[in-house]
Amino acid sequence: MSNQDELKKAAALAALAELETLAPESLIGVGTGSTVNHFIDALASRGLRIRAVSSSEASSTRLVAHGIPLASLDDAGELPVYIDGADEIDHGFNMIKGGGGALTREKIVAAAARRFVCICDEAKQVATLGRFPLPVEVIPMARVQVAREIARLTGGEPRWRKGFVTDNGNHILDIHGLAIIDPSGLETALNQIAGIVTNGLFARRGADVLLLATATGVRRSERKPSDDRR
Ligand code: A5P
Repeated sequence: MSNQDELKKAAALAALAELETLAPESLIGVGTGSTVNHFIDALASRGLRIRAVSSSEASSTRLVAHGIPLASLDDAGELPVYIDGADEIDHGFNMIKGGGGALTREKIVAAAARRFVCICDEAKQVATLGRFPLPVEVIPMARVQVAREIARLTGGEPRWRKGFVTDNGNHILDIHGLAIIDPSGLETALNQIAGIVTNGLFARRGADVLLLATATGVRRSERKPSDDRR
């Protein structure tokens, strides 16, 4: 296991403590990605009795393989907690997500949760979001037009993630060359472009808790009310 993967695993294991107050058979939201994969494996190896609302086909497959029951969002109501990774997170708990292409379902499940717990390694923490290309899920017929609009709006360079189709049957544009000064404003502005399903900025619904794995241990921090910009 690489050093970064060890840190991802440490963050994932730390997330188990966030579930301690939940009643058996509680429903939680589960994100997508290599860090979340460690979390799913840890849930199973500890034998925790929970049920999951999943944010992707990949996570669903892994949850089911471990015998963890799935529930649909329709049946779930409000979730006490959503656990997911991030591609970048800033000091205001705003994130870029969607490197794995699951951004839309991640945003939907996160919106249903009272608390978003972000698990990641320290390489993901940045002062300004944007070095990681910002993923945007688009309706296939609108891809070229949306790319033009994005370039005009952001000054960044949208690149088609060729050969990739989302769980919803759509395409992804990754916007390169951004330095995102106003994450919430850009999240809102991108959503106004016809043909965009979702963008990978999680600012209006950012993280509430960050479990950041570092070389000296996992640091837990909570978003302060003064950071609130929803
Ligand atoms: C999936 O679409 C993403 O939002 C992931 O949550 C994010 O890319 C983090 O992935 P890793 O845990 O694999 O770094």
